[in-house]
Amino acid sequence: MGNRGRIGLDGGMTILVLAATGKTGRRVVRGLRERGVEVRAGSRKADPPFDWSDPGSWADVVRGVSAVYLVAPEEVEPVAPFVAQAVAAGVSRFVVLSGRGADTYAGRFGQSMVEAERVVQASGAEWSVIRANNFSQNFDEDLWYAPVLAGRLALPAGTVPEPFVDVEDVAAVAVALLTEDGHSGRVYDVTGPEGLTFADAVARISAATGRPISYSEITGADYAADLRAEGLPEEVVASLVGMFEVIADGTLARPATGVREVLGREPVPFAEYVARVWGPHTPEEG
Ligand SMILES: NC(=O)c1ccc[n+]([C@@H]2O[C@H](COP(=O)([O-])OP(=O)(O)OC[C@H]3O[C@@H](n4cnc5c(N)ncnc54)[C@H](OP(=O)(O)O)[C@@H]3O)[C@@H](O)[C@H]2O)c1
Repeated sequence: MGNRGRIGLDGGMTILVLAATGKTGRRVVRGLRERGVEVRAGSRKADPPFDWSDPGSWADVVRGVSAVYLVAPEEVEPVAPFVAQAVAAGVSRFVVLSGRGADTYAGRFGQSMVEAERVVQASGAEWSVIRANNFSQNFDEDLWYAPVLAGRLALPAGTVPEPFVDVEDVAAVAVALLTEDGHSGRVYDVTGPEGLTFADAVARISAATGRPISYSEITGADYAADLRAEGLPEEVVASLVGMFEVIADGTLARPATGVREVLGREPVPFAEYVARVWGPHTPEEG
């Protein structure tokens, strides 16, 4: 930690952050820049643009880069050729954002994350992996936001507790793994400090906002029907239903120590996330 060496600071090297406009990437970019690190944003909107589906866009983006924050695309196919091209261009460190329990998914979910783990481990470069539980920010920056605002969230989550992790913690861990030595070959389970059922989590958001928000338990089949009605593609529907099947196994329910191991402090509690984001104003009120 404190006495670990830092790449990017001494050598004037550049760190490429994929999904740089996303929930974790935005914060990783900010955290690296706060440390004085040169950052290249990987995004279809950046200059040069990065697009997983356009291998012709990769060379300009990996040129001169020492380390990559690797957020896998939805598809498995581009992961291996991208990593090979990055290594050939001189990238010597990868930090992969993956999901908690990635070695238990067995094809039900998250295959591109599993592939990203596998590929960097065989790349010859230094690598480390962040296996995160569901993000707290899924409630205000992702799929659960619209239903929460509408006052009704329905998921097949069961009563297995979920140790929701604050994306600020995920990003802080990523910044440390990208810039400090001593993490090579490590897989960190990154979670919040306590498991909460989805009903509990929604009740806390409801209390903070003063708005009624219901949580109802539905079957995987009903959830799939809801997602299809929202227009989500079939592979995304299957993946989301698969994720809740993985959660129902109960193997991801226990809080883990990754944040403490990397940052030397406890993770942000869900209550702190709720107070910061949902009270006294909801995100759309600013
Ligand atoms: N949500 C969770 O609870 C959770 C938990 C554990 C792991 N994960 C994993 O985290 C990853 C998502 O990370 P995130 O939540 O930080 O991102 P996010 O908020 O879902 O944002 C998606 C990002 O991907 C980029 N993107 C989309 N299509 C692209 C393309 N064709 N080429 C290049 N970039 C593209 C977007 O950038 P542009 O639109 O600017 O190009 C955007 O920055 C997924 O692999 C997910 O499985 C999520």
